[in-house]
Amino acid sequence: MKYLFNALASIIVMTTLSCNNADTPADKPATGDTASTKSYSLSEQPYGEIGNDKVIQYTLTNPSGMVVKILNYGGTVTNIMVPDRSGKMGDVVLGFDSLAGYLQTGNPYMGCLVGRYANRIANAKFSLDGKSYSLAANNDGNTLHGGLKGFDKVIWRSKANEGDSGITLAYSSKDGEEGYPGNLEVEVKYTLMPDNGLKIEYMATTDKATPINLTNHTYFNLSDGADTTILNHQLMLKSDLVTAVNTKLIPTGTFTEVKGGPMDFTSPKTIGQDIAKVPGGYDHNWVLRRAGVDAELIGSLYHPGNGRFVEVFTTEPGIQFYSGNFLAGNLNGKKGMKYVKHAGLCLETQHFPDSPNQPEFPNTILKPGEAYKQTTIYKFSTK
Ligand code: GLA
Repeated sequence: MKYLFNALASIIVMTTLSCNNADTPADKPATGDTASTKSYSLSEQPYGEIGNDKVIQYTLTNPSGMVVKILNYGGTVTNIMVPDRSGKMGDVVLGFDSLAGYLQTGNPYMGCLVGRYANRIANAKFSLDGKSYSLAANNDGNTLHGGLKGFDKVIWRSKANEGDSGITLAYSSKDGEEGYPGNLEVEVKYTLMPDNGLKIEYMATTDKATPINLTNHTYFNLSDGADTTILNHQLMLKSDLVTAVNTKLIPTGTFTEVKGGPMDFTSPKTIGQDIAKVPGGYDHNWVLRRAGVDAELIGSLYHPGNGRFVEVFTTEPGIQFYSGNFLAGNLNGKKGMKYVKHAGLCLETQHFPDSPNQPEFPNTILKPGEAYKQTTIYKFSTK
C-alpha cells in the first residue's frame, strides 16, 4: 500500500514537473483553450459577502506556473504572479488584501472591469436616435467609468472555461441602468494562455441601441512591491496621435501629434523622463496605429531592473495610459503598502473617450442584432 502510494506520488510529482518545464512550441496556437486539461488548474475560495451574494476569488494557474486571481465582484483581477528574469515569481498588479479594500469608498477602480462605458462622457449626456439620455455626473460634471454603480461594482455570474484555462463572467445590465438604454447581456472571458498571456475577451448584445466601451482597469507595477512608483518602467505605444483634451480630460475632437514630445512613446521610453512636462501626469487616449481587425501588438511595458516585460495586444482603436496620478498614499494596499502617486499604471484598451458625442470618432453604438466584441491580451515574459 505504502509502495503504491509512493509510486503514485512520484508519478504525480513527475507530471507536475514535466508540466512546469513544458515549453510552448512556437507553432502552437496561442490560446489556453487547446492546451491539455492537466496543464491548468482552477480553484475557488470564498472572499466574503455583499448582502446575500457570495464573493468568490478564482485562482488560475497555467502550465508554466503563472497565477492569476480574479473576483466575481467587478471581474476584478487581484493578482498576477509572473517570474522575473531570474525566475523569481512576483505579483505585478496593485490591489488590496481583502474584500473590504475593494469595497472602500475611493477604490480607484483597482483591477476591475469597466462599463457600460469606460472613460468619460461629456456633461454626463448623450443623444441617440433623437432621444437624449442623462447619466450620473460622477467626475467634474462628466460621467466616468459607467456611473455610480458601473460594471466594476456588481457581482458577475461565473463559469469555468473548457479545460480550466480560465473563467467566463456574465452580467445582465438592465434597460435604464445608470441611465443607459437597452438590456445588455455582457460576457467577459478571462483565459490564461500557455505562453503567459492573460487574454480578455469581451462580448455583448443589446435589445436597444446603446453606447458601449468595455475595458479592464488593472494597475501594473512590475516590481512586486520593490519600487514605490512606475517612473522607472519603460513604455512603448504604437501611436502617433493622442485625442486632445480640455482640462477635464474631455476630448476636444482634435488630435495632437506626439512626435518628439512628452507623449511620444513610439520607441520605449522611461515613464519618468518627460512626465513633469505633462500637467497632472499621463491620463490620455493614444490613437493606436493598427493594420487589421484582429488583436495586434500595440504596446509594451518593461522593468529594466528585474527584466519583466508585458506586451499588449488589442482589437481596440485606442488606449488610455493612466500613470496613477490620483493615487495619494491614503489607501492601505496589499501587504500594508501605501499606494503613492504613480504607484501603478493602467493600460486601458478602449474606444476613444466621449465617442457618443463625437461623430467623427470610431463608432461605439451597439444595435440590436449586432455583437460587440473586444479582445485584449497582456503577455508576460522577460528580457
Ligand atoms: C481612468 C481615468 C483617470 C482616473 C482613473 C481612476 O484611468 O482616465 O482619470 O479617473 O481612471 O482613478
